[in-house]
Amino acid sequence: MQFSSTLWFFIPCGLALLTWLFMNWDEKEGIIPIFIKYWQGDLGELREEIGEPIILWWHPYSSVPEEYLECSHSTRCFVTNNRALLKNVNTKVVVFYGSHWNVSDLPLPREQDHRWALIHEESPKNVFMLSHIQVLSVFNASATFSRHSDFPLTLQSLSSLQDLIGRDYYVEVKEKSSLLNGGDLSPVVFLSSDCDTPSEREAFVSELQSFIPIDSLGSCLNNKKLPPSLEGMESGVMSPELLTILGRYKFHVSIENYPCEDYLTEKLWRPLIVGSVPIYFGSPSVRDWLPNKMSAILREDFSSIQELGNYLKYLNENHSAYEEYLSHKIEGRISNSGLIQAMEGRTWNIDETGSLFFGAFECFLCEHLHGDLEKFAWRPLPASHLACPPPHSSVTLQENLENFWTRAWHHGAVEARVFQQLLSQYPHGIPSQIYQDHILEALNKN
Ligand SMILES: *[C@@H]1O[C@H](CO)[C@@H](O)[C@H](O)[C@H]1NC(C)=O
Ligand SMILES: *[C@@H]1O[C@H](CO)[C@@H](O)[C@H](O)[C@H]1NC(C)=O
Ligand SMILES: *[C@@H]1O[C@H](CO)[C@@H](O)[C@H](O)[C@H]1NC(C)=O
Repeated sequence: MQFSSTLWFFIPCGLALLTWLFMNWDEKEGIIPIFIKYWQGDLGELREEIGEPIILWWHPYSSVPEEYLECSHSTRCFVTNNRALLKNVNTKVVVFYGSHWNVSDLPLPREQDHRWALIHEESPKNVFMLSHIQVLSVFNASATFSRHSDFPLTLQSLSSLQDLIGRDYYVEVKEKSSLLNGGDLSPVVFLSSDCDTPSEREAFVSELQSFIPIDSLGSCLNNKKLPPSLEGMESGVMSPELLTILGRYKFHVSIENYPCEDYLTEKLWRPLIVGSVPIYFGSPSVRDWLPNKMSAILREDFSSIQELGNYLKYLNENHSAYEEYLSHKIEGRISNSGLIQAMEGRTWNIDETGSLFFGAFECFLCEHLHGDLEKFAWRPLPASHLACPPPHSSVTLQENLENFWTRAWHHGAVEARVFQQLLSQYPHGIPSQIYQDHILEALNKN
């Protein structure tokens, strides 16, 4: 008797609960997913208490998973890499790290007011899709190596103007010549550990070597050992021990792995810092960034590598002609006002980790989120922010269709077109099989 009356009480209660659950069923917002999230301790998207605009790193690049960021004009934002916050009403910007771009892993469907920001300071060869407007235009703000970017990182490998005029590693030409005559040193040095490049710098060095001796200290075409303490850490390194060694050479082979407008790395700055003359191939507009007009010898000014080699031999013999390339050291002079302005105007610096611009970019976004939104357009990015052409060879100055990287660039063009077409058809996410099938189909058509 007692049992059945309890039952008669619970059955309607249970039915009512089930009905209520059913009526509240919603894949994302409903009560059941909330319970599941509660169980998992993941209430991110429900945290209404974050009263500031949220900047969400889609790729976990910020060092701290969650923090309030204080920027200038007392603006504050909440910065996080917790993806559960994507659905929070305060989430205004999603930040992507270029090299991690993944078509199968995007914050879709995209809310009307979700601005996408792109940060990419690395070589264009890391992700060719971003060299195409069909992909670039999904973003609304950029921090790239291009001067046209919203937050330019063009001078990412130069820490100060003082480094360019400082003489810590500078060796006078007379001394360089006597080191050369001692027989232990070549006039030109090459230091690289990435031996398969879109710019074909390995082939360039092999050819130049037949006209003038080159010491190759890195793992590519190595013909001379670095001291054991420096072995294997040659690329990107600015250690005093290495800079002292490099300062003794008259010339450096300074060829970027990818030639693209404004993509400048330590390949250019390291010789300028130690007071050696770069033999440069990379950004076609590199003159806009050099300390003085004659601070580098540009590959494209010579019709052949032989002609370039002869010119280097001439400079190797003529001290006063050689020294014309070093007025930043000899006279302590920087005549390029564009370079000075860019260095003085930037809001970030670099340290050994080189990454201080990540936080500065977060503040750039935060201040614009708080400010008059009209002032910053948040428009789809134009091509000038990153789009690089297919690579040209430092040997021939032409596109080489036999080069793996050139083909990869063209493949990226196909991927970008397919992506754009499918994104409008699948706003909730592009199924990866369908994506692959469309790419194959597009490649077969070509
Ligand atoms: C891209 O994202 C998908 C889905 O999360 C994942 O399975 C895949 O491994 C990712 N690809 C790469 C190259 O990280
Ligand atoms: C050496 O270079 C200087 C400066 O460019 C030039 O005036 C001079 O004619 C050169 N000497 C020779 C022997 O070529
Ligand atoms: C941001 O870019 C997207 C994709 O191109 C575009 O649809 C959206 O209108 C842009 N947002 C603004 C505020 O312009």
